Amino acid sequence: MRMYDIIKNKRDNKELTKEEIEFFVKGYTDGSIPDYQASALTMAIFFNGMTEKETATLTLAMANSGDTVDLGLFGDKTVDKHSTGGVGDKTTLIVAPIVASLGCIIAKMSGRGLGHTGGTVDKLESIEGFNTSLTNDEFFTQVKNIGIAVVGQTGNLTPADKKLYALRDVTATVDSIPLIASSIMSKKLAAGSHTIVLDVKCGSGAFMKTPEDAKALAEEMVKIGKNNGRNMAAIITDMNTPLGKNIGNSLEVIEAIEILKGNGAEDLKYVACSLATEIVSLSKNISTQEASELVDNALSSGKALEKFKEWISHQGGNSNWIENPDNFPKAEFKEDIISEKDCYISSMNAEEIGISSVILGAGREKKEDAIDFSAGIVLNKKTGDKVAKGDIIATLYTNNKDSLKTAKEKFLSAIEFSNENPKEIPLIYEIVR
Ligand code: URA
Repeated sequence: MRMYDIIKNKRDNKELTKEEIEFFVKGYTDGSIPDYQASALTMAIFFNGMTEKETATLTLAMANSGDTVDLGLFGDKTVDKHSTGGVGDKTTLIVAPIVASLGCIIAKMSGRGLGHTGGTVDKLESIEGFNTSLTNDEFFTQVKNIGIAVVGQTGNLTPADKKLYALRDVTATVDSIPLIASSIMSKKLAAGSHTIVLDVKCGSGAFMKTPEDAKALAEEMVKIGKNNGRNMAAIITDMNTPLGKNIGNSLEVIEAIEILKGNGAEDLKYVACSLATEIVSLSKNISTQEASELVDNALSSGKALEKFKEWISHQGGNSNWIENPDNFPKAEFKEDIISEKDCYISSMNAEEIGISSVILGAGREKKEDAIDFSAGIVLNKKTGDKVAKGDIIATLYTNNKDSLKTAKEKFLSAIEFSNENPKEIPLIYEIVR
């Protein structure tokens, strides 16, 4: 078999065989197929797509390209959630302790920030002492003892996806439905959880810009999971506007704590509780009504907050910081963004706002960059809000004073104002089960 023929077949819009796809995944992982041939193939897939069968085969080949995690010892109680990536999306920090406090088992691997989107591992590391690289033994012992552990991706899980994702990132082939579906689902299948709920983001800050594309991606992933014996659902949520008020690592942890304490932004609470409800309903095989009551109770009784504290301290985090978030270090410099007129905010481009927070130091411009945990943005106003001249729209935080000017320009370029109240966009478009 020759890689040349596989590229040519996909270029000519022919369906690739199982043998061809497996040949490509194996060869690319072991280095015998070079980057230039892999990029030609991914670009052909980007333009011609893949059939359902091809996508399922690619997913399994990538899932089996390295180690897989066996969570069989926890029966069918293991649950996982995954977001396709957004700005201000700190739902894992809320959903994980809620569902763990209700008896679901979270043995989870999370990612770091990517481009303009944040990552759970970076957020957790903003808590003093928190250890995101437990050994296998530590990981399993903690899950057995308290029902929850979240770590960074281990060395040899889905190496094919690791290589392919890095290649797609620099060859403009990330936003392809079969490539995203196989990338996400290969990791989820390899990570072993029985119930998987996906948060498929849709809008300016997401890879999927339209509800139609988001739905196609959600359906593809749900189908792959179900065909592999998993309990699956996907919630399509809005990412035209950042989620909640805070963007940036420690700022997002602080906002998650606010929600767990029963306060915080309504949009964030709604999306987090919807995800938790879906997980609990699927995992316990109960109605969404019953699951939603359990989730509300976990929050209002303080059980979820207690589970969060237990989780953080078991992984070495300083639980005094959770008790009193004033302990989180503050950025040295800040700048308010002030409205120059009376008007409405008609849109906020979440991707541009994410980039503004990266400029402030909350994300990495290059892979080896260090993160400034206290950098970021607090939104005081959001899309649809009325603002008066002189109101503070947002505050930018950083330890690098020189970044403020560029970040402010980027932030302002992301916002549109109008004299009329804009049409409301739903927070949740649809649930695919
Ligand atoms: N997240 C992933 O893990 N893979 C993609 O391709 C896109 C988002």
